[in-house]
Amino acid sequence: MSRRRLTRPCVDKLRPYTPGKPIEEVQREYGLSDIIKLASNENPLGPSPKAVKAIREAAAEVRLYPDNDCYHLRRALSEKLDVPPDQILLGHGSDELIHNVGLAFISPGDEVVMCEGPFSQWEFIAKLMEGAPVYVPLKDYRYDMAGMAAWLTERTKVVFIGSPNNPTGTIVTKDELVELVGALPEGAILVMDEAYYEYVDDPAYPDSLELVREGRRVIVLRTFSKIHALAGLRIGYGATTPELVEAMERVREPFNVSSVAQAAALASLEDGDQVERTRALNTEGKKYLYQELERLGLKYTRSQANFVWVDLGRECRPVFGELLRRGVIVRTGDIFGASNHIRVTTGTEEQNGRFVRALAEALGAA
Ligand SMILES: Cc1ncc(COP(=O)(O)O)c(C=O)c1O
Repeated sequence: MSRRRLTRPCVDKLRPYTPGKPIEEVQREYGLSDIIKLASNENPLGPSPKAVKAIREAAAEVRLYPDNDCYHLRRALSEKLDVPPDQILLGHGSDELIHNVGLAFISPGDEVVMCEGPFSQWEFIAKLMEGAPVYVPLKDYRYDMAGMAAWLTERTKVVFIGSPNNPTGTIVTKDELVELVGALPEGAILVMDEAYYEYVDDPAYPDSLELVREGRRVIVLRTFSKIHALAGLRIGYGATTPELVEAMERVREPFNVSSVAQAAALASLEDGDQVERTRALNTEGKKYLYQELERLGLKYTRSQANFVWVDLGRECRPVFGELLRRGVIVRTGDIFGASNHIRVTTGTEEQNGRFVRALAEALGAA
C-alpha cells in the first residue's frame, strides 16, 4: 500500500454537503405518496411561465456551448442593479460564487469571519482553502454588529454576512452595515449573501449595492434559486468592484452558466408578477405560521425571508422523524448547531396548514 497521502489534509476535515431530504427519498423510506417539502426554501408557486417557455426554447440549442460571458443576462442585470455590466458576477448558483470567492481570495491561515451556525458553504470554502474560520456568536438570533468589530484582525480576509440570514431570517440594518464596513481591516472583503433579498419588507434593510457603487471591497450575492424558483437550473449572480470581478474571473470555470439557465433567468427578470405573487403568498404564510406557532406555545424568530426558525424547546430529531412519517419534510436545526430548532419554509396555504397539523401531532407523538 502506498504510504503517500491520498487527500490534502484539509479535505479530511470536510464533510459532504447534506441537502434537505428529497421527496423521493421520503417516499421510498416511508412508503408515502403525498409528501410536502418545506426544507430548502424553494418557491412553492414555481417559476414564471415566461421562464418555462424560455427553457423549452433554449433546450433546442443545447448542442452548443453557452455564452461564456452571459452577454444578454449581464446587461439585463446591470440595468436592474444599476451597476456597470463588467461589475456583474454570474455563477451556477450563488454557491459557485461563494466558492470562487474562496479560490480567488483566501490563502492558508487567512481568517474568514462568519456567524456561529453559518450557511454551510461559507464554512466549507474557508476550510477547503485552509483558511481559519472565525465564528461570531449571534445575539438574539441577529448579527451582533457592534460586537463584530472585536473579531476583526489584520488577518481577516473575508467576512460573510447573510442578510436575511439563513436559518434565522434576520437582517442587518443600514446603520449596522455602514458601521461594519468602516471597521473592516485593510485588504478585507465583505461578502453580503442576499439569497433572500426579494422577500425583505423591513424599511431598515440597506441597499448594499450602494457600497459597490462607492467602490468598497464588498461583494453582493443574489440568486435565481429562491423567489425566481429556478433552483434546479443552478444560477446565481452578484456585483462587486472591477478589481474583485477581475480576480474572480481568473478562477471561474469556463461556460459555468448553462445556456438554459441564462435564458430562464433573463425571462424571469421580465416577470414582476411572479415575484409579487410569491411575496404576497409568503407574507400571508408567515402571518399564519406565527399565529399557529404561538397557539402551539412555540417560540420563533420573526423572519424577513421565506422560512421561519422555530424553537421547539426540545431535541428536534424525534419531531423531525414524526413529521417525516406524516409526509412533511423540514430542516433540522442541528446542522446549524441548534439541536432544538427546526427551519420551515413557507409553502402554499394548504401546505402551511398541513405542516401545522402535522407539527401539532408530531409534538404529541415524539
Ligand atoms: C444564505 C444562502 N446563500 C446561498 C445559497 C445558495 O443558493 P444557490 O442556489 O444560488 O446556490 C443559499 C441556498 O440555500 C442560502 O441559503
